[in-house]
Amino acid sequence: MKLIFLGPPGVGKGTQAVRICDILDIPHISTGELLREELRNDTELGHVAKGYTSQGKLVPDNLIIEMIKERLDVPDCKKGFLLDGFPRTINQAIALESITDIDMVVNIDAPHDLLLERISGRRMCSGCGKSYHISHLSSEICPDCGAKLYIREDDKIETARKRFEIYEEEFGDILDFYRKKGIIVDIDGAQTIDVVTENIIKNIGGNNK
Ligand code: AP5
Repeated sequence: MKLIFLGPPGVGKGTQAVRICDILDIPHISTGELLREELRNDTELGHVAKGYTSQGKLVPDNLIIEMIKERLDVPDCKKGFLLDGFPRTINQAIALESITDIDMVVNIDAPHDLLLERISGRRMCSGCGKSYHISHLSSEICPDCGAKLYIREDDKIETARKRFEIYEEEFGDILDFYRKKGIIVDIDGAQTIDVVTENIIKNIGGNNK
């Protein structure tokens, strides 16, 4: 299955993507995580991207599209994939059409004040990249892989607000683009993590293809 997860910052795209990819046995492709990995690997792209991400701005389309093209070319994507955080502009959505077809777009939404609270409590794992909330943690160590947890630079409240602004500017066009194709399902992201997962599975059907 070829899936896209759309939704505002902090709505749970990454959290849900890990679970759904595990169930469907498809790779989770998060553009945000790919960029953070570039930075951890000290690459030129990582440093260029940091100039944008640290201010809550979008990284230019040409860099992101090239990165996605390369990632979708890896053989593990033959069985399907889940795109998390891509496309984020209408140009990216149009470019994606010339790279691959998409089966379904999962649009997760929730009130922004709730999302700001989630973002301000988020901790990321420096090892496996999973995201947690402080309310579910007893230490600053990843419960899954034991690596140290850290706070994302773009999770500072002012930067997070900027990310919401940009999301609002771009989102309408992308939603229209996929609504016209009739492949969108809408999911309430304000519920518990387990309930959101159940609803996604119910809506997309649990079978890989
Ligand atoms: P990216 O990493 O994609 O950030 P984002 O889209 O802003 O999304 P987040 O990672 O903030 O949130 P999420 O929805 O994954 O939530 P999560 O599951 O972690 O992108 C970062 C930056 O990279 C961008 O700002 C941009 O600069 C650049 N970039 C990336 N893609 C780009 C593109 N295509 N084009 C241009 N630039 C690009 O959950 C959040 C927290 O809430 C966690 O603590 C989690 O434990 C908790 N939580 C999740 N679900 C629930 C729930 N149901 N109940 C309670 N708590 C929950």
